Amino acid sequence: MKLPIVAYGDPVLRKKAEEIDEDYPNLKQTIADMFETMYAARGVGLAAPQVGLPIRLFVIDASPFAEDDEDGDGDPSLKGFKKVLINPIILEETGEKWGFSEGCLSIPDINEEVMRPSNVLINYLDENFEEHEVQLTGLAARIVQHEYDHIEGKLFIDKLGPLKKAMLKGKLDAISKGMVRVGYKMRFPHVKKKR
Ligand code: NI
Repeated sequence: MKLPIVAYGDPVLRKKAEEIDEDYPNLKQTIADMFETMYAARGVGLAAPQVGLPIRLFVIDASPFAEDDEDGDGDPSLKGFKKVLINPIILEETGEKWGFSEGCLSIPDINEEVMRPSNVLINYLDENFEEHEVQLTGLAARIVQHEYDHIEGKLFIDKLGPLKKAMLKGKLDAISKGMVRVGYKMRFPHVKKKR
């Protein structure tokens, strides 16, 4: 089942999410729903707070970045880079910071260059609660860093400079009020329900 994606301005996106254990209700279904929601919205990552759940869980599938687009800059190593990360911990971020134009399904229509370290060492549980520790680099690291921020209550726009932030304020207010065209179902925090 596709879930509505929570839009910028909803307090759930600003909460530090909680760890879960194997007894978390409907976990399998939640994960399946999150993948379905992410694919329908053409995203490469989706964190649980973005569907209204304040838990430390996110799903990623970087396959779209594996295909060569018009720039010819696809990364074939990302083919099949599909993962469920539960209770992840970033152990280390290393390497030079590099810029990449990020977007977010909760902040439609805004893309801005964000600087992040190139490598990340992460520990996490998969959907079967098996523990993994992996070193990621490039776009794989980037997606994990972006989604990890979500479960910490952070958004990519937090990393922009003050001038950029000021320029985006009107657009962000509009998003929270539902004044944005978007090709998937969203839940807007500041839309008054019609009587
Ligand atoms: Ni996001």
